[in-house]
Amino acid sequence: MAMESFAGKLAVVTGGGSGMGRELTRQLAAEGCSVAACDLNPDTMAETVAMARAEAPHGVRVTGHACDVADEAQVLRFRDELLAAHASDHVGLVFANAGAGGGESFAASRREVWERIFAIDWCGVYYCARVFLPLLIAGGGGVLVNTSSVNGLWASLGPGRPQTAYSAAKFAVRGFTEALIEDLRTNAPEVRAVLVLPGHVGTNIVSNSLIAWGLPAPEQMSDAQVQQVVPPQVRDALIRAGALPEGAVPDDLRQFLVRANADFRDKAPVSAAQAATIILDGVRAGAWRILIGEDAKMIDAAVRAKPEAAYDYAELFAGLTGSSGDQTSQAQAADPI
Ligand SMILES: NC(=O)c1ccc[n+]([C@@H]2O[C@H](COP(=O)([O-])OP(=O)(O)OC[C@H]3O[C@@H](n4cnc5c(N)ncnc54)[C@H](O)[C@@H]3O)[C@@H](O)[C@H]2O)c1
Repeated sequence: MAMESFAGKLAVVTGGGSGMGRELTRQLAAEGCSVAACDLNPDTMAETVAMARAEAPHGVRVTGHACDVADEAQVLRFRDELLAAHASDHVGLVFANAGAGGGESFAASRREVWERIFAIDWCGVYYCARVFLPLLIAGGGGVLVNTSSVNGLWASLGPGRPQTAYSAAKFAVRGFTEALIEDLRTNAPEVRAVLVLPGHVGTNIVSNSLIAWGLPAPEQMSDAQVQQVVPPQVRDALIRAGALPEGAVPDDLRQFLVRANADFRDKAPVSAAQAATIILDGVRAGAWRILIGEDAKMIDAAVRAKPEAAYDYAELFAGLTGSSGDQTSQAQAADPI
């Protein structure tokens, strides 16, 4: 079911304050689609709204809302606010894009961080589907676009880099979205579900994830906070790897986190704007499964070709080049909080 144009529709975007959510908001608005976006961070959300409004044709309405998608009451409030602000009783597109990394180790990470990441990455998508599916049906036809990850295909970042909370949530998003395909075909054929599987995309997700855990951005962290994010065993491993100087002090750790975020953003093979274009082109063309980046395609193919070798990395990637992408720097920077 292709969709020729987004012009004249109303789209909902979660996580609109940064990265792919910001670029989706801008590109949709530039194409003539009104957007109601939300974010945990009202300041970055307001910046996105200003950018999108400046680029949008006359008559397009862009609104920004504060909402934690891991809290169903806030998602319901977001729905009520956006329907009033856009004077509408339905929506045409929903991009459940908000997400954050962390809780890498089930064995060693702090339980509250693990559960926070799972709640953002799984419950955030689930509540959006619960709250917005009736509004997609009410509009007589629409698209629900759920963002998973390569960690919805492969539950690791490679040797020594577990990824448990994020992978559990992103596998859930993938399973749910794939299950919706037959469910919607049978019970709500006017709506289709789309699964987005990004590899490494250049965004501020490393820094934003720390904020989503309840910490300040690395630049503003106290010494105690940076030592909590980079505890002694991680600091020692980073010293051995040459990523930190011998005898690293809290300021070195702070600079390391700032650098890890910038490297993740600036050394990515795909920019956030390119990723948003790939997503929108895929939705327009009627795709149900949108892989972003050569790394995502490589992991998808490798895991399908050799499922038994999925966690035997040398065997899995034998003869292939490329990186495992997703959140590598983040895993190095902020492992067992
Ligand atoms: N960047 C990558 O390499 C990559 C790879 C695979 C998947 N993804 C996924 O893509 C999506 C977008 O990520 P991005 O890279 O653009 O990250 P980003 O950090 O640039 O943007 C995500 C936005 O979501 C917001 N957010 C976080 N928790 C929230 C919450 N509870 N409620 C509302 N908003 C919240 C953040 O404040 C941020 O503005 C996420 O679901 C992420 O897991 C990203």
